Amino acid sequence: MSMSIEISFSKTAKTSGGLVIALGSLAEPVSAAARSVDSAGQLDKAVKVAGFTGKNFSTADIIAPIDAQADRVALVGAGDPAKLTAHDWMRVGGKMFTLIRKAEKVTVMLGDADMVSVDAAADMALGLLLRAYKFDLYKTKKADDDDNGSYKLTVVFQHEDAAGCKKTFASRQAIADGVKLARDLVNEPANVLGPVEFAARAKALEALGVEVEILTEKEMKKLKMEALLGVSLGSVRPPRLAIMKWQGGKAKDKPLAFVGKGVVFDTGGISIKPAAGMEDMKGDMGGAAAVTGLMHTLAARKAKVNAIGIIGLVENMPDGAAQRPGDIVRSMSGQTIEIINTDAEGRLVLCDALTYCQERFKPEIMINLATLTGAVMVALGQHHAGLFSNDDKLSEALSKAGNATQERVWRLPLDPAYDKMIDSKFADMKNTGGRYAGSITAAQFLKRFVGDTPWAHLDIAGTAMGSPSTDINQSWASGFGVRLLDELVRANYEG
Ligand code: BES
Ligand code: MN
Ligand code: ZN
Repeated sequence: MSMSIEISFSKTAKTSGGLVIALGSLAEPVSAAARSVDSAGQLDKAVKVAGFTGKNFSTADIIAPIDAQADRVALVGAGDPAKLTAHDWMRVGGKMFTLIRKAEKVTVMLGDADMVSVDAAADMALGLLLRAYKFDLYKTKKADDDDNGSYKLTVVFQHEDAAGCKKTFASRQAIADGVKLARDLVNEPANVLGPVEFAARAKALEALGVEVEILTEKEMKKLKMEALLGVSLGSVRPPRLAIMKWQGGKAKDKPLAFVGKGVVFDTGGISIKPAAGMEDMKGDMGGAAAVTGLMHTLAARKAKVNAIGIIGLVENMPDGAAQRPGDIVRSMSGQTIEIINTDAEGRLVLCDALTYCQERFKPEIMINLATLTGAVMVALGQHHAGLFSNDDKLSEALSKAGNATQERVWRLPLDPAYDKMIDSKFADMKNTGGRYAGSITAAQFLKRFVGDTPWAHLDIAGTAMGSPSTDINQSWASGFGVRLLDELVRANYEG
């Protein structure tokens, strides 16, 4: 029941009543376009009283200037437009959304094309859409302060090159939809979104031309995925493995592979978590959500690349059938694992998904995403995901994409000295490495399953959920990873 927003671009703007948002700059706080709405010349005075200077990300709301052709004129500042990055433009777009309130039709005057490129216009529209996202599926009473409720909002951006904007915006719409999907999946409670239900959401990508296979428990048993299946033993809900295939490149090109941790709820299992804050563990499938959102985006924008998304979907519960500390399982790779702590379950799900991915698809690169450790939040807080990689080039490309999208990553070390910390007395390895360097030993565990494939692991426990509000996200779930990886693909793998 949330709001649907339709974005369009027009060379000329018809402004009979309603809300007009005008983009200003330090050089020209009230643009010529804004002035054209204000036949009596009242706007300059109103802006002066409001103290609006055109500074970037600032706003002013002017109610009904006398004789204006609009009921309301709102201004957003771009500061020095030549200096704004793509992400800055998205933030400006996010600010625009805050001005809309109850309006149903909005005209955005962007001014001269030399101030706002078609890319900048598309980025503003993307920022507006991301800011507008709200997860209120289960609110039977809508708040009526700054809430736009559940209706259709039309936003028309006026720009000289409207056709160019429209074309450029198509890929941004695909990004907005992929991020929305990822946020929805993370925000959904686990009673609604179990492994089977999540798999069905992945299957729905077939409508975009993605090929989707869902493996059942029986099929995973045949593949000897004992590590993944062990996590699922204490749950009455059966596990699933979803494989999403997008073939946008040449048939012979090796695919890029993305693998996600999809623990729909993590109680910790027999090594049960404390009660306080456990509700957040409905978001322990943030990696799988990002992979699914990314596949949506790549398909929706018809990316010229072959991509595989693989997500391991399980629920980590304690019951009479649950696995115990001390148990030893044999992973699909043949390597054996001693379970020290059933709460270190993400790596157990991922290791079999990574083995399956490599053996079947022999990918060009393999990137996994997981809300893997609380320790990564101790190290990096909520502003960088932990990055671990066996490949400097891939690592560099990810850092660059992170800076461009402001879904930032920070590389942490891998080293034989840390690897030793997960050697086991009874098996090939154990699933925890003790108190120190928890994120690194988790990454060392995964590294034992990737062979020579160029690989990166993103620990998104701090960035996927519980997110601080920003100009482009007000939701608990951020959708972290979709924009980052879409940018990685776009900048490095699409020829
Ligand atoms: N899903 C958690 C990690 C997590 C914690 C994600 C907080 C998001 C927010 C993971 O499965 C886990 O429980 N990790 C343990 C590992 C430990 C038992 C070695 C942790 O971080 O404490
Ligand atoms: Mn856990
Ligand atoms: Zn977990």
